[in-house]
Amino acid sequence: MEIVIVDSPEEAANIAADAIERVLATSPRPVLGLATGSSPLPTYRELIERHRRGQLSLATASAFLLDEYVGLPADHPEAYRTFIRRHFTDQVDLPPTALFGPDGASDDLAGAAASYERQIAASGGIDLQLLGIGSDGHIGFNEPTSSLGSRTRIKTLTDATRADNARFFADDTDAVPRHVITQGIATILEARHLVLIATGASKAAPIALTIEGPLTAMVPASALQLHPHVTVIIDEPAAAALTLTDYYREAYGHKPGWQRH
Ligand code: F6R
Repeated sequence: MEIVIVDSPEEAANIAADAIERVLATSPRPVLGLATGSSPLPTYRELIERHRRGQLSLATASAFLLDEYVGLPADHPEAYRTFIRRHFTDQVDLPPTALFGPDGASDDLAGAAASYERQIAASGGIDLQLLGIGSDGHIGFNEPTSSLGSRTRIKTLTDATRADNARFFADDTDAVPRHVITQGIATILEARHLVLIATGASKAAPIALTIEGPLTAMVPASALQLHPHVTVIIDEPAAAALTLTDYYREAYGHKPGWQRH
C-alpha cells in the first residue's frame, strides 16, 4: 500500500488526477470507478480544468459509480447518478451512455445489483477506482461487519453514516435513505488500481485502522490490505493517528522511477 501524505486537499486532488490522466492516456477504453461524497470533489474539479485545457479526454472512457441510494427518484439532486453528473461527468466529454450506476429505483433491487455486476464485468473491469472512506471505516457503502467477500447488493446504512450524510439533505437525517445498493468489497477489490482520498481530522481514526490495524470486517476499508495496488492520499489531519508516517514520507519521497504508478 502506498501512503502519500500531502499538505492540502488540492495537492491530493492533483495526485489523484495525475493517476486518472495516466489511465486515460494509456488505455484505449479506460474504465473509471467514481466515488461520490465530498472527498473526490477537488479531484473532479481538477479533471474538469484539465479537460477544458485540452489535456485529457473521457470520450472513449466509461465510468461506474460505487453506490446509489435506494428509493430516491432518478432526478433527485442527491441521487448519486445526478450528483456525479452535476459535479463531474456533465462537465467533461464522457458520453452520457457511458455512465453506469446501480439502479436504486428498481422494483427488483437484487436483480439490479446482479445486473450491475454484469455491466462492470462486460466493460472489462475497472482500471482505477476512486474511493472515499466513512468515519466508521466504510468503503462504498459497505458498513462495518460487511462480508469481505461481498458483491454488489443492498445494504442498510448505519445511523452514523446517515448523520454524516445529512449535510447533503438540508441537515435532516430522516431524509437520508436507509438503504443503498453498493458494490461489494470483493467487487471493489477487483479494480486494478484503488485510489483512496481522505482529508480532515474526522478521517484520522478510520485511516489509521485501515492502514495499520488488523484486517477485519469491523473496518471494511482494511480489506485494501489485500490488494496489490493501492494508493492512499491523505492530508496531515487525516494522517494524524498513523504511527509510521516517517516511513511513508521516506518511501514516497524516494520512490524510484522504475516503480509503477
Ligand atoms: C460515496 C461512498 C462513500 C464515501 C464516504 C466518504 O460514493 O461510497 O464511501 O466515499 O462516505 O464520504 P465523504 O467523502 O463525503 O466524507
